[in-house]
Amino acid sequence: ETVEWDAAAAEKGGYDHYMLKEIHEQPTALRQALSGRIDLERGTADLDLTFPAGFLDSLDEIQFVACGTSFYAAHYAAQLVESFADVRATAELASEYTVDGGDPWRTLTVAVTQSGETADTLSALRRANGTGIRTLAVTNTLGSTVTREADDSLFIRAGPEIGVAATKTFASQVTTLALLSVFVGQERNALSAADARDVLTDLRGLPGAVQQVLDGADDVREAATAFVDAAAYFFVGRSHGYPVALEGALKLKEIAYDHAEGFAAGELKHGPLALVTEDTPILAVLTEGTRPGETLNNVAEAQTRGASAIGIVDGSVETNSLDTAFSVPSLGPVTPLVANVYFQLFAYAIANQQGRSIDKPRNLAKSVTVE
Ligand code: AGP
Repeated sequence: ETVEWDAAAAEKGGYDHYMLKEIHEQPTALRQALSGRIDLERGTADLDLTFPAGFLDSLDEIQFVACGTSFYAAHYAAQLVESFADVRATAELASEYTVDGGDPWRTLTVAVTQSGETADTLSALRRANGTGIRTLAVTNTLGSTVTREADDSLFIRAGPEIGVAATKTFASQVTTLALLSVFVGQERNALSAADARDVLTDLRGLPGAVQQVLDGADDVREAATAFVDAAAYFFVGRSHGYPVALEGALKLKEIAYDHAEGFAAGELKHGPLALVTEDTPILAVLTEGTRPGETLNNVAEAQTRGASAIGIVDGSVETNSLDTAFSVPSLGPVTPLVANVYFQLFAYAIANQQGRSIDKPRNLAKSVTVE
């Protein structure tokens, strides 16, 4: 007697695709990212990082460099660093990075790369290293090139990601970078223990909040059915909702091969509104940390042109006007990271209903080792 054994299905843990498995692994990945790194009593982020005495205190600027999804995580992180650490923070596309005229001794360049092998990011890192700037790698991959070339490394601990579309690694990057922003804020005396404790408590709530979203995955799949033939998908958000809107659109492009764009919600009326019709749903982040009231006004302008509005909400504004609403618990500045899980599920549902090659989209590679 033989037992049927499908090795490929077993590796995917019963999910149809690695991407869906990895979306569902996010609570575990986030627990790993946070493990041993939060001391709530003292109100500190404990990262295994040592900088020269006074280095963080005298910093003028933190520059994040990254590509694709890692760039959106970096964009989110730069906003967090500015709010917690009282230092100028920028996120630059690695392929566009030039070392500006600032004092190299007062600059920290952080290369954010899941694989640790992305050529554009390594090249930006080398440019920073070449001018004597101190560099930090934030990566998922032990022993990767980025860890060998940067002065220090910080691991996001997401575990292997097989799907070409980054999902759990985005969540782990933002979470690890949020810890870094608290760490830098405290070293610079810019963040009180009480304020740090608030942020750390929000971070600790992430695995549970993401699990709540995942428990509603069926509802997202059903809701997505109505939009599978859309002409294009527009994602909007402000503040921390903006990088999440960009990430939501990238996921849809990569795996569904459909036209999707992310916009800063306030920019919709400055041009993109001309693209809006009844065939272009608007997906909006409307939670804490994203100035939801103003974004809702922008969404209403799109609805006036016939677009359907799908919002991710946490009760911080009245959202009865939306056509579809999905809720997330409020977790302060990381609420939009939880909202992003809905966008991942939405992109997956749209791509799956079209029978796309979700784990290996056409023309794309997991690690892009050419410039
Ligand atoms: C994300 O879904 C993409 N596959 C891609 O944008 C990716 O994030 C980018 O190539 C950067 O990769 P890295 O994090 O390994 O450097």
